[in-house]
Amino acid sequence: MPEDASRRLDNEYMMPLRKTPLLPPPLWTLLGCGALGGVFASLLEQSGQRVQVLLRDAQRSRLHPDFDFIALDSSHHLLGITRCFTDQVASVRRLLVMTKAHQVITALTPLVGKLSPAVPIVLLHNGMGVAEQVARLFPDNPLLVGVTNHGAMRCGHFAYRHTGKGETWVGPFNDAAKAYQNLAEDLARALGDAGWDEDIRQRQWQKLAINCMVNPLTALHKVKNGELATPRFADALDQLSVELCDVMQAEGLHASAEELKRRTITVCELTADNYSSMLQDMEAGRLTEIESITGFLLARADAHDIAVPVNRSLYHAIKEKQA
Ligand SMILES: NC(=O)c1ccc[n+]([C@@H]2O[C@H](COP(=O)([O-])OP(=O)(O)OC[C@H]3O[C@@H](n4cnc5c(N)ncnc54)[C@H](OP(=O)(O)O)[C@@H]3O)[C@@H](O)[C@H]2O)c1
Repeated sequence: MPEDASRRLDNEYMMPLRKTPLLPPPLWTLLGCGALGGVFASLLEQSGQRVQVLLRDAQRSRLHPDFDFIALDSSHHLLGITRCFTDQVASVRRLLVMTKAHQVITALTPLVGKLSPAVPIVLLHNGMGVAEQVARLFPDNPLLVGVTNHGAMRCGHFAYRHTGKGETWVGPFNDAAKAYQNLAEDLARALGDAGWDEDIRQRQWQKLAINCMVNPLTALHKVKNGELATPRFADALDQLSVELCDVMQAEGLHASAEELKRRTITVCELTADNYSSMLQDMEAGRLTEIESITGFLLARADAHDIAVPVNRSLYHAIKEKQA
């Protein structure tokens, strides 16, 4: 080989390795990748905001294919969303907790002492009363709570379908969270209708009231949501909404029984063909969210010494059936 050719070869091999650009750590980490978590992860990723999903350690050895995301217009998208586990908590910048209410504490406990106190935690489950427990586990982290009306379904292993677009609202649960309005703006870029509400408790209670009516009634009577808008359930909705209104007013919130009933009927009409999550959970033999929905209401009613007999009987009927 001529001398200069061998030098060329050497030089070639001595070239520094081509650097692949280092990606910044994902902006969002989603803890809980079920129906809603899978859809939110997909929508955030599609909006150009990097996402990782934090899975249970037990899922380490399972196959993690790309996300198969079916959008509202039925188009399919394969998305390469990063998976991570609790030993990678250092990469978390914002934590969106997407488990069911009764799973939140178990899911967050392995992060105690590992999650930086600077990381904002956002809770988006249905029901109330969990944020108080999270605040005790992570007293220094900014804690945000929210409500969402998006619809989501899991349709396979890492396969998710967006079934309905709705509003999402987030707001501060503690003082440290008040500086995080920009999270709502980033969510809006992905979800469309999303906003910041400093008085998020009012929205949480409105959603809780609707859930207290729709979930137990549909689960016990095994009916689709639309059935609740028929005269058969008019008396039950009247009684439940009066009880809910009494408790909300005692909590210092704006409430009218007629308005609560009207909103509930509107939701039932808009989702007439849907089976509520509580009915689906009962049918599948899973634990329902009754404890953080009606259970929370009963606890607040007791604290104000307000009788809520109809809600109480629904609570006991669900507890008996799910036992
Ligand atoms: N789906 C909707 O359309 C919708 C709409 C509005 C609000 N919501 C509310 O959003 C919340 C989530 O609902 P969903 O329908 O998405 O429930 P889901 O499909 O059951 O998803 C919950 C996810 O959390 C995961 N999880 C549970 N414990 C965990 C742990 N210890 N560590 C890590 N991950 C854990 C579950 O993992 P496994 O799969 O391994 O159990 C599952 O992937 C609920 O409060 C629901 O009421 C849902």
